[in-house]
Amino acid sequence: MLRDTTVLMNEQRIFKPNYHVVEEAHVKNWEAELEKGKDIEKYWAEKAEQFEWFKEWDKVLDDSDKPFFKWFVNGKINLAYNAVDRWISTEKRNQVAILYVNERGEEKKITYYELYREVNKMANALRNLGIKKGETVSMYLPMCPELLISMLACNKIGAVHSVVYSGLSVGAFVERMNDADAKVLITADGTYRRGKIIDLKKIVDEAVLQCPTIETIVVVKHTGSPIEISDLSGREILYDRLVEGEPDTFAPEEMDSEDPLFILYTSGSTGKPKGVLHSTAGYMVGVATTLKNVFDIHENDLWWCTGDIGWITGHSYVIYGPLLLGCTTLVYEGAPDFPDPGIWWRIVEKYGVTKFYTAPTAIRHLMRFGNKYPNLYNLSSLKILGSVGEPINPEAWIWFYENVGKGKTPIMDTWWQTETGMHMISPLPVAGLKPGSATKPLPGIHAEVVDEQGEPVPLGKGGYLVIKKPWPAMFRTLYHDEERFKDVYWKEFPGCVYRAGDMARIDEDGYIWIQGRSDDVLKIAGHRVGTSEVESAFVSHPAVAEAAVIGKSDPIKGQVIKAFLILKEGHNINTTIIEDLKRHVRYELGPVAVLGEIVQVDKLPKTRSGKIMRRILRAKEEGEDLGDTSTLEE
Ligand code: WTA
Repeated sequence: MLRDTTVLMNEQRIFKPNYHVVEEAHVKNWEAELEKGKDIEKYWAEKAEQFEWFKEWDKVLDDSDKPFFKWFVNGKINLAYNAVDRWISTEKRNQVAILYVNERGEEKKITYYELYREVNKMANALRNLGIKKGETVSMYLPMCPELLISMLACNKIGAVHSVVYSGLSVGAFVERMNDADAKVLITADGTYRRGKIIDLKKIVDEAVLQCPTIETIVVVKHTGSPIEISDLSGREILYDRLVEGEPDTFAPEEMDSEDPLFILYTSGSTGKPKGVLHSTAGYMVGVATTLKNVFDIHENDLWWCTGDIGWITGHSYVIYGPLLLGCTTLVYEGAPDFPDPGIWWRIVEKYGVTKFYTAPTAIRHLMRFGNKYPNLYNLSSLKILGSVGEPINPEAWIWFYENVGKGKTPIMDTWWQTETGMHMISPLPVAGLKPGSATKPLPGIHAEVVDEQGEPVPLGKGGYLVIKKPWPAMFRTLYHDEERFKDVYWKEFPGCVYRAGDMARIDEDGYIWIQGRSDDVLKIAGHRVGTSEVESAFVSHPAVAEAAVIGKSDPIKGQVIKAFLILKEGHNINTTIIEDLKRHVRYELGPVAVLGEIVQVDKLPKTRSGKIMRRILRAKEEGEDLGDTSTLEE
């Protein structure tokens, strides 16, 4: 039952903050904190003081060359130093930094001091491989400690990492690897998934044939498969061999605030995936502050974010945010329902997880099994829950709130993106909540909903979500594609405001309701998939002449792919060809591209200049009005 602390206001019930966390929350007054954030320079400068700088900044924000904003100008800092080294001279030295758990029930605890030594060894090893400051190191690894160690080692030597999600397959891998000009690739023999071992090395072996820049491949023996030195090619080396005998100290590189930190590829509405580039100091300030504010992190928290490190959620909130705040981060390798749908709750009970952050798709999936599983375990250690990746439907929100949070635990519905680097719209744990609303822009964030001309829309009316002032963890550019950076994000509305690519509305209480993407980006089980990438994968199949792809609603995954295909002469759709097409798309893109339906068509709706009008396909699919069809060819 819902608690009687709920009241009805307007169209939605506000869940009032009567939670057990409120007493100890470090931000006690939501409205006052929002007020403080109005002066962005003052607000973020204060937050930057939490770190140890080699040299402090001269200027908080330089906006003289919009949209190339610079934060903490001329400051010198190192991320790994602040996330790891800083703690070893404190009593945190022997606290667990990383708690690795997998679906087989195996665990590994790494203290801050142990992490410090491992990162230093890897930093020395990367230096010995010839990696210099500013060069790129790629990773294609499961959720394993070596991934976190390698990323931190890159920060330490000033190298830029580019992590490719291990659920992406050959085609997607090659494209990302080549764009990033990586010299070194770190990978593993495999990963655990629902009782099986997925052979990552096999995918890498095939893919690297098309990646000319890679000079060295480091292989982590993770699943214990019997890789022998003799199985490795001349440019391959085992991770353990590589770090063996390396010194366990390393002087961190003094990085400029604006030095690049990492590239992370994400899907856009057209063309190739975009290499979102983040820089050092602003990113650190943004992720640490938001994690602290939104989840009220204390040093003794056991934090669990279920997102994969291959996506931004994992970068910001599995590794960097929690280590910069000095708490313990739980890294889980496996699915939410294996060996049974109680696995996550069993882990919460066993280790005493205090803050738990996941995705709506996982909640909807677990909801199907009813409340039996969460009720089997003692979840009383949980204080705050969180959601990210797509709009959370009120039914899923309430299920999560009642069955996992037992009505005592607020849910932080956090809206943000690969590009924003950090949470942007989200409640703080003391806020009144409405199921399905991400509530308000966080302190220091200035978001608005506007019409096509960039004018604010009236309350309750839908429009485009924009961010009007810069924020520290903002991406700095698209790697190799400055023009696209300017055109896609900063040109559409006057005054150089950031176009998020989402539709939203604001209700009478000032609460923001995110309605989904305004472009052709799909959200499949919370993963971002570009329609054009899927279309290219289809067209590379010998039977396909043309392809158009749209998102189709799915009760668990949010969206799945519906493909409209024009087949080449002599080919007709049948079960054999559908199976083959599915295999092909999976080979090119990986399991993230979930195919819901494939249909054969004779024609696709196009503009006179030949662009596919996916909007028409979508409207037909949803049974909606076709809208303006004046540009349609016929
Ligand atoms: C969507 C994920 C509604 C949105 C961190 C955004 C959300 C895209 C939410 C970015 C939320 C993310 N409510 N929609 N709480 N969080 N989204 O880059 O469409 O993988 O633009 O970053 O996810 O996806 P990305």
